[in-house]
Amino acid sequence: MKVAVIGAAGGIGQALALLLKNQLPAGSELALYDIAPVTPGVAADLSHIPTPVSVVGFAGEDPSPALEGADVVLISAGVARKPGMDRADLFNVNAGIVKSLAEKIAVVCPKAVVGIITNPVNTTVAIAADVLKKAGVYDKRRLFGVTTLDVIRSETFIGELKGKNPQDVHIPVIGGHSGVTILPLLSQVEGVEFTQEEVEALTPRIQNAGTEVVEAKAGGGSATLSMGQAACRFGLSLVKALQGEANVVECAYVEGNGEHARFFAQPVLLGKEGVEEVLSYGALSAFEQSALESMLDTLRGDIAIGEEFAAK
Ligand code: APR
Repeated sequence: MKVAVIGAAGGIGQALALLLKNQLPAGSELALYDIAPVTPGVAADLSHIPTPVSVVGFAGEDPSPALEGADVVLISAGVARKPGMDRADLFNVNAGIVKSLAEKIAVVCPKAVVGIITNPVNTTVAIAADVLKKAGVYDKRRLFGVTTLDVIRSETFIGELKGKNPQDVHIPVIGGHSGVTILPLLSQVEGVEFTQEEVEALTPRIQNAGTEVVEAKAGGGSATLSMGQAACRFGLSLVKALQGEANVVECAYVEGNGEHARFFAQPVLLGKEGVEEVLSYGALSAFEQSALESMLDTLRGDIAIGEEFAAK
C-alpha cells in the first residue's frame, strides 16, 4: 500500500506521518508532500525509525511524485486560523488548496481513496467531490471527510466521566465536523447510562472541543497531535479494508443516500473500493433527534458553499 500525506510538514501532517511510519503494515510506502522546503528532511528524519515502511518526501509546487500510485491520500494541507483572520479568509485559502489538489488527484491517481482533513471539512469535501466529478472521475465510495477526531474525543471524555478505559468506549458520531453539526450518539454507548444533565453538558463539550485546544495553545495553533492520531486511525482502517480485511467500520463524512444532506457522517463499512456500505446509525433519543433536525440547515449550507466554490 502506498499512503500519501499531503500537508506533511504541518502540525497534523508530521504527527500523522510519524504514527503511520510506526503503524502501517510491513512493506507499505509512505509518501510525504508539502509546499514547505523542509519536507524531504521530514522524510529523512522519519526514515531513521526502524520499521519496515519506506518513506519519501517531496516539496515544491507539484504534488504529483507523492500522488503517483497512491492507494490512499490523506490531505491536511491548508492554513490553520491565525489572529486577524476570519473564517471567510480561512475558507478561501483552504478551499483553493483543496480544489487544486483534487484537480491533481483527478489526473495522477483518480482511483485513490482520499481522506480530507483540511477544514472546514463540511465544505472542503463537497469541493473535492465536485472537482473530481467535473474531471469525470468521481466515485463517491472513494472520498471521505475525516471526522475521527470527534469520535476519539467522545471516547476520551466518556471514559473520563464514567471512569472507564476510553479504549473500551465505542460511540457513533454523526452529522458533520464542526460545531452543532457534530452529533455524538451518547444513547448508543453500550454499558453506559447518561443523565439528561450529562447529555446536555457532554454534547456541547464534544462539539466545541477544538476550541478547548485553540484556547489552551493561546494563539499557537489548533489540534494537531490528537488530529494526527485520529487521521492515523482512519488511514489504517482504510488500508486494512483495501487489503481485504472484513468488518472494518469507522464513522466518516461521505456522500450516502442523501436522506439528510448530500454529505453526512455516519458509520461506514469499509471495503476494497472504499465505502462498501453506509450503515444505519440506529435509533436516536429525543434529544439526538432534535439536535439532528436543528443542525441540518447549517450542514446543507456548508455543503452548498462548497458546491458553489467548485462551480466557479
Ligand atoms: N500543498 C501542500 N501543502 C500545503 C499547501 C499546498 N497547496 N498549502 C499549505 N500547505 C502546508 C503548509 O506548508 C503546512 O506545512 O500545509 C501545512 C499546514 O500545516 P499547519 O499550518 O501546521 O496546520 P495544521 O494544524 O496541520 O492544520 C492543517 O488541517 O484541521 C485542519 O483546520 C486545519 O485546515 C487546517 C489543516
